[in-house]
Amino acid sequence: MQIKTIKTQAFSDQKPGTSGLRKKVSVFQQPHYLENFVQSIFDTLIVPENAVLTLGGDGRFYNREAIQVIIKMAAANGFVKVIVGQGGILSTPAASHIIRQHQTFGGIILSASHNPGGPDKDFGIKYNTANGGPAPEKITEAIFENSKVIQCYKKAEIVNIDLDVLGETVLEGCAVTIIDSVHGYADLMEGMFDFAAIRALLTDGFQFKFDAMHAVTGPYAKAIFLDRLGAPADSLMNCEVTEDFGGGHPDPNLTYAHDLVDIVYGMQAPDFGAASDGDGDRNMILGKAFFVTPSDSLAIIAANAHLIPAYKQGIVGVARSMPTSGAVDRVAAKMGIDCYETPTGWKFFGNLMDAGKVTLCGEESFGTGSNHVREKDGLWAVLCWLNIIAVRKQSVEKIVKAHWAEYGRNVYSRHDYEAIPTVKADRVIARLRHQFDTWIGQGFGNYQVKACDDFAYSDPVDGSVSVSQGIRILFTDGSRIVFRLSGTGTRGATIRIYLEAYDPDVANHHLDAQQALKELVDIALRLSDLIAITGQTQPTVIT
Ligand code: G1P
Ligand code: ZN
Repeated sequence: MQIKTIKTQAFSDQKPGTSGLRKKVSVFQQPHYLENFVQSIFDTLIVPENAVLTLGGDGRFYNREAIQVIIKMAAANGFVKVIVGQGGILSTPAASHIIRQHQTFGGIILSASHNPGGPDKDFGIKYNTANGGPAPEKITEAIFENSKVIQCYKKAEIVNIDLDVLGETVLEGCAVTIIDSVHGYADLMEGMFDFAAIRALLTDGFQFKFDAMHAVTGPYAKAIFLDRLGAPADSLMNCEVTEDFGGGHPDPNLTYAHDLVDIVYGMQAPDFGAASDGDGDRNMILGKAFFVTPSDSLAIIAANAHLIPAYKQGIVGVARSMPTSGAVDRVAAKMGIDCYETPTGWKFFGNLMDAGKVTLCGEESFGTGSNHVREKDGLWAVLCWLNIIAVRKQSVEKIVKAHWAEYGRNVYSRHDYEAIPTVKADRVIARLRHQFDTWIGQGFGNYQVKACDDFAYSDPVDGSVSVSQGIRILFTDGSRIVFRLSGTGTRGATIRIYLEAYDPDVANHHLDAQQALKELVDIALRLSDLIAITGQTQPTVIT
């Protein structure tokens, strides 16, 4: 195999965010841009002998081209084998599973998650380590440092591989294996859940709708829900993967999953609706005209985990990101298990799972998962709900309301202010940081401030410390307001305000979350002075 060393010049903007490097496709299409980043990844790793790389992506525009480049670079950088999902397709959780199942050295996943795809939209690349999870900060920082000083990269002079044909191509020094993208993952799911009970539910009149949003979970949903669980074909919508995700924004929330939301809130509402995002790690759960917040979903899965075969022996602990509501904390307290509060981003859960401290974890941003992989997992969450419904034989709404009656309700919403000029967004956060000390003990309307801080986390496993993870205003009744800046946006800055009102007595209260949170919204806007500083009077997205 001929290996070519190609001279290059460093780019200054290759700092990976919470989930890898995300940029416009046109940025990635610049000569050497992708190659520089990939070489910076490989230069960060000490690739041992016989190392295998897992490779795949969510099928968005530029996926196939990038895969060919990465195969050639992996071969030139000492990997003896590259395992690639057929057609270049691997959902993020499936890639995590393959890394673990085949014990590969690591994996490269091509995705910009829920960001739109297409020639003038976004592309992304992330590196996962041997445990199947996102690379920890010390690795992503090192990749960034390497990217700033890179002078050359290595590429094998080999022909393009046919990504659509299963099987192995043996090149001198490196084999490329194209595997079925879905099979191993579907087997994993079948081993965890009560497929017989779910099959009985789905073939006995229970109406189920799953929306893949034209993204990567389409083929997975067909294999699992249709082929293995016998659901009628019309249970699935938008299940063909297209390079531009049908022109949509594949983010499963009430704003972007409008095709599904219209059906679930319409005249012919099914019993259950669910959607997943671009790369298959996020999920949204809906009942008949009923939305389950991701924070509640995590709490309810935890409380009912014993009904799922994989967790029938119990769960050891749970974790949630700091802005996620405290609903799961109440379940953990009742079960007598530990509950960890981590900074935003899935990578913080990995250490806890590797150390055997937690079984389930989740984020308010439509991410839920368990230690079966080291990524959040959209279809897994859908199967959790189907399994729980199949056993309890109750509607989604009934299960959620019974949960609130038992634990109280953490009424929750997130308000996003997107595309704010970075200086203005920074000013909002700086002002909060500067003032929050003075609010402690003060009363605002019905709420009294118990504590305020800028969240910091010390990892109980490796001792690493992450500071400045979001401003928390904690009230005496268990309610909270949290402010933080997004780490994944590609246009200006996004300010996220997380609002949570604890209601111990749901039976006597209004169910509309925005209504219940109105006073907290007013307090948040007043304390941050967000409208005056940014000039934006309304959030752009409410979830
Ligand atoms: C967002 C979510 C966060 C999630 C991340 C990757 O990050 O808020 O929970 O882990 O996407 O899916 P943010 O843009 O807030 O930094
Ligand atoms: Zn995603």
